[in-house]
Amino acid sequence: MIIAVDGPAASGKGTIARALAAHYALPHLDTGLLYRAVGQTLIDHGGDPADAKAALAACRFKDKLLVDPRLRDDAAGIAASIVSTHPAVRAALIDRQRSFARQPGGAVLDGRDIGTVIAPDADAKLFVRATSQIRARRRHNELTARGMAVTFDHVLADIKARDKRDSTRAAAPLRQAEDAVLLDTSYLSIESAIHHAIDIVEQRLAARTSG
Ligand code: CDP
Ligand code: CDP
Repeated sequence: MIIAVDGPAASGKGTIARALAAHYALPHLDTGLLYRAVGQTLIDHGGDPADAKAALAACRFKDKLLVDPRLRDDAAGIAASIVSTHPAVRAALIDRQRSFARQPGGAVLDGRDIGTVIAPDADAKLFVRATSQIRARRRHNELTARGMAVTFDHVLADIKARDKRDSTRAAAPLRQAEDAVLLDTSYLSIESAIHHAIDIVEQRLAARTSG
């Protein structure tokens, strides 16, 4: 069983994907981390994320970087959203994501293009969204809890810039797959968002069995 969870920054897709993975005892891949690792590699070596060649070279990051807490920083997120516009970078990361999705027993993946590009044949697809104000408040809370001095307005501007870049790029833009179910988490607690997500997956599985 493959479950695809897509959506914009701080929509709650990671929280939902982790909960679904735990519920169905499936492995989970946060694909944003791969792009963040490419972005962080460039930050570390003074490379320009807009330079496609430098970004492609940075795709050969060391796996241990994937657990580096700096990947959660805003800087890595912004660099990730720039490197992810290069088709060569997306192509370099595709095999790793597809083989994770197709491992025996299945998997849960979250990102921007899981339902559209990485696993178009997924058994259940969720598209998670929330208003940009609410997403910025969530991300601001996360960053301040980690002791980062950043204003709400700055986080909101970042979220909007990233939304725009992610949805307007030519290569695998952020969009809801036709067969994805929309889940708006703006006014949902984490518990009810997870509850709705499990319901959606159950309905898809039931439809698949009966159809
Ligand atoms: O956690 P958050 O939603 O803020 O970001 P993320 O999922 O870690 O993704 C960081 C950036 O990587 C996004 O802004 C996208 O530009 C890019 N990304 C992508 O292009 N495709 C994916 N499947 C996942 C992330
Ligand atoms: O993966 P993504 O960037 O889409 O979001 P996330 O990391 O799952 O969630 C971003 C933040 O919003 C986390 O601190 C979550 O605990 C919080 N959240 C929330 O307050 N309400 C929800 N319904 C979902 C997530």
